[in-house]
Amino acid sequence: MSSRLEGKTVIVTGVARGIGKAIAEMCSEEGASLILIDTDEKVKEVAAGPRTYALVGDVRDAELASQAVAEAVSALRRA
Ligand SMILES: NC(=O)c1ccc[n+]([C@@H]2O[C@H](COP(=O)([O-])OP(=O)(O)OC[C@H]3O[C@@H](n4cnc5c(N)ncnc54)[C@H](O)[C@@H]3O)[C@@H](O)[C@H]2O)c1
Repeated sequence: MSSRLEGKTVIVTGVARGIGKAIAEMCSEEGASLILIDTDEKVKEVAAGPRTYALVGDVRDAELASQAVAEAVSALRRA
């Protein structure tokens, strides 16, 4: 494991499975804080840990998108 993304916060959508899940896991392994969004509850199981925030919902929902950005700003402040 390297730490190329240490101190970074990454927002990944569509992460309950497939390409999004693989990207989220890779970013976690590289040390990033994560904001994860998916309509599927399984989003909560992806890269679960203290630096991961999972949001269940439709990424087309503007309120959810704003919430994700707010979470990212908080995570960046703590990083
Ligand atoms: N798999 C491939 O080979 C491939 C190739 C080129 C492009 N793509 C594209 O890449 C994207 C991801 O592919 P995949 O194979 O990982 O797809 P997938 O269907 O396996 O996974 C998509 C994930 O996105 C989530 N999702 C879908 N709509 C959502 C929404 N509005 N809000 C929140 N979450 C949502 C689903 O719940 C699911 O977990 C797709 O757009 C696909 O068309 C895939």
